[in-house]
Amino acid sequence: MSLKLRYLNLKTMIRDIRMLAIIGIAEAGSGHPGASFSAAEIMGSLYFRIMKHDPHNPQWPERDYFVNSKAHSAPGYYATLSLAGYFPSDEMGSLRKLGSRLQGHPVRYNSIYQKNQSVPGIEYSGGSEGIGLSVAVGIALASKLDGKKNHVYVLIGDGESNEGQIWEAAMAASKYKLDNITAILDRNRIQQDGFTEDIMPMDPVRDKWAAFNWNTDEIKGHNVGEIIDALHRASLVKDRPSIIIANTIKGNGIKHMTNNPQWHGKAPPRKHTPLLLEELENECLIAPSIIAGEPENYEDKIRKAERGGADMIHLDIMDGKFVQNKTMTAETIKKLRHVTSLPFDAHLMIEKPIGHIDKYIDARCDIVTVHAETCNENEFLEIAEKLLKNGISPGLAINPPTELPSWFYSHLDKIDVLIVMSVNPGFSGQQFLPEVLQKMTVLNQKLGEHGFKGYIEADGGIDSMTLQQVYDAGAKIVVAGNAVYGSSDIHGAIIQLKHKANVALEKRLLIHSTSLDIRQDWIKARRHILIPLANELGIEEELHAIK
Ligand code: DX5
Ligand code: ZN
Repeated sequence: MSLKLRYLNLKTMIRDIRMLAIIGIAEAGSGHPGASFSAAEIMGSLYFRIMKHDPHNPQWPERDYFVNSKAHSAPGYYATLSLAGYFPSDEMGSLRKLGSRLQGHPVRYNSIYQKNQSVPGIEYSGGSEGIGLSVAVGIALASKLDGKKNHVYVLIGDGESNEGQIWEAAMAASKYKLDNITAILDRNRIQQDGFTEDIMPMDPVRDKWAAFNWNTDEIKGHNVGEIIDALHRASLVKDRPSIIIANTIKGNGIKHMTNNPQWHGKAPPRKHTPLLLEELENECLIAPSIIAGEPENYEDKIRKAERGGADMIHLDIMDGKFVQNKTMTAETIKKLRHVTSLPFDAHLMIEKPIGHIDKYIDARCDIVTVHAETCNENEFLEIAEKLLKNGISPGLAINPPTELPSWFYSHLDKIDVLIVMSVNPGFSGQQFLPEVLQKMTVLNQKLGEHGFKGYIEADGGIDSMTLQQVYDAGAKIVVAGNAVYGSSDIHGAIIQLKHKANVALEKRLLIHSTSLDIRQDWIKARRHILIPLANELGIEEELHAIK
């Protein structure tokens, strides 16, 4: 997986892009949620992990440039800039208001002329589309002529690629061998009035760019690991500009907006905002534990998990000392790294983890969790510092009888996940311990009050019956061993768990909509999501009655 990712932290920051964008759009009563959401991972990865930039020195001559050519994604772009430190996030509430610095389409910032019509960090005035790549070519050419090392990133839309100017600029970029340009195509297959392949077919889009002598790459556009790896690969290319075809989903993040042309340029009612924010904050990630089921055969299990739609791979490392059982080693993990771009969630059930941490860093795990029963505060801090320096998300795990150490609250910024064991560690296939639910609920509340931005992960005995209980208790990462690999249909088992997580989420949103007294309105907006779940949600009649 990728360089310096700190996966879980990046994931929460990208979630916040969507949350701020939806706050602004709903408040303004207009704006583009679809594109803000399809490009969120791309913009977040660039600003939070890849680009050389400085919000305290926006005109830094050595900075990399970001040209947002699909300018209608402005709410997502503004949200990204504010989270990167260019302006206070609460200004998002002024989006599209008269006198606001956040207009419907970005205005290039200039501290003299556009001080009040824009915010620092905006390099390009977008609006009528198809022009951004030309501007990027100009910036890149000038940098080359000045012998400067700035890199220019440009975000292009697939609807926007109907514009002929894009292809003129593409020719110029390859003529001038502009290897300091990386374009990212937000390939969400939807434009203003419908699906791109109905309006102006783009496929085979990658071949088109290759024919213009660009270096091309293609990735899953919501997988931050793949985005960052592809940007890194593009940075190594010489004498040719690069384009990354990022296959994305319009409106990704809010289920009734997902892949739905209606939400290209439409705002949700302001009264729905609390529900939309709750949905964004409560995505449930499924992490199959590959020690479960038949012995080893890890590679095949990982492939099946990825095909089944798993969000990450849970790796249980047991040393036969902290727990009786002995499982994989860092060497095993290293050999599995190439199998998938899914994050590796390493759960270390080993004694004295501080002596072994380098091996798991070297094995390129994305999340490394050690047990509170195996290290004290200083040892944990030393481990966390090492992991953070290597872009790995640190985590702490507690066994069922173990209370969360009080020192945990002093280091919330260094911890991305808390595993609350729901079995005594050592084996998969054990019975879920319901007594941990109370502990999890209290911890979730208390950590929320302390501003914890990380995840609670439930591990042990989770299946389609117990998933909703841990989800309601606050777990947003759910490990599943036997429930997945004990099943003859691994694919189906993961889909079933995801379905249960969906039902749990919709139930929560319905309850919230009732407390906000907008239940009918919400059901109407959410109709096509709720219909398949109506039976399990017990709302068939209600759904039928609401036209
Ligand atoms: C137990 C491990 C768990 C376990 C999960 O010590 O930490 O991750 O493998 O397997 P199930 O879901 O079967 O309990
Ligand atoms: Zn585990």
